[in-house]
Amino acid sequence: MKTAITELFGIQHPIIQGGMHYVGFAELAAAVSNAGGLGIITGLTQRTPELLAKEIARCRDMTDRPIGVNLTFLPSFTAPPYPEYIAAIREGGVKIVETAGRSPEQYMPALKAAGIKVIHKCTSVRHSLKAEKIGCDAVSVDGFECGGHPGEDDIPNMILLPRAAEELKIPFVASGGMADARSLVASLAMGAAGMNMGTRFIATKEAPVHERVKQALVEASELDTRLVMRELRNTERVLNNKGVDRLLEIEREKGKSLKIEDIHEQVAGVYPKVMIDGDMDAGAWSCGMVAGLIHDIPTVKELIDRIMADAERIIRQRLTGFLDGAAVTAKTRAVA
Ligand SMILES: Cc1cc2nc3c(=O)[nH]c(=O)nc-3n(C[C@H](O)[C@H](O)[C@H](O)COP(=O)(O)O)c2cc1C
Repeated sequence: MKTAITELFGIQHPIIQGGMHYVGFAELAAAVSNAGGLGIITGLTQRTPELLAKEIARCRDMTDRPIGVNLTFLPSFTAPPYPEYIAAIREGGVKIVETAGRSPEQYMPALKAAGIKVIHKCTSVRHSLKAEKIGCDAVSVDGFECGGHPGEDDIPNMILLPRAAEELKIPFVASGGMADARSLVASLAMGAAGMNMGTRFIATKEAPVHERVKQALVEASELDTRLVMRELRNTERVLNNKGVDRLLEIEREKGKSLKIEDIHEQVAGVYPKVMIDGDMDAGAWSCGMVAGLIHDIPTVKELIDRIMADAERIIRQRLTGFLDGAAVTAKTRAVA
């Protein structure tokens, strides 16, 4: 399949693995790129630019296909040394960066000077237009369903994607709630040129996380995520657990007076406890509603091959079948 995104990034399939804290290591990024998608290393999971340089080199040993690095710009007391992280990306020969969080505007000259293509993740049409204006090559449009930070507008992809298509000139991928061929074909129908998946890629053989995390995703339904930190305007969609129950209890008690310090124990340092130790009650870790569509733990290649084969079947048989007037019964499923 060829789309503006496969052409822009030089990849075989229009499928991107979004940056994920403590998940987006070299193993997963290489597996996605080797399967024909775009694998992305999460920059800030590497505590220093030197460690990121090593992670890029490790990934390079595992794949000669295009890879990307995620740079998340978050409000923080001590900002990470972004120029040094960008230098590590440039010197590692990585030509694609996924930015997220705040606008990457101040770093665009450095990224562009290095010949790097930038895809910015946005949760609104206005932020997508800003990304287009400052010279981003593409955007990842992240709907309210998404795992991680859905922003504060609460617009699901059924509305957000066609709205993005109405306004944007640069290509965009659909992000949030994407799991399978149905997600891909629907996104293409709504104007996207591919899809970005986070949560779905955690439940794969190559994802370098504790088995209990993958099992939790298979067991979870679409009802099992919660929104936390709404009062701080730093909303995050997470998988429910005992730590999250406690967090929500504190949020209810504190109401509008909630401060980040009040929930420190439930949000700080949680990722290594969950992803490495498999402590599933440790606190808040990002997870999308798409957990309800995750029923197995395939290899990355099996997952991507299945998506592309099913997408072709949906387009050629189910969709054109409607036009051709072929007998399509109520029982005919989008994916066999
Ligand atoms: C465990 C986890 C960690 C994430 N960490 C980051 C991150 O550090 N930076 C970022 O830009 N996005 C992060 N995301 C968001 C993903 O890149 C992606 O946008 C999101 O997962 C898409 O929604 P989905 O989970 O429904 O596929 C994370 C998502 C998950 C599930």
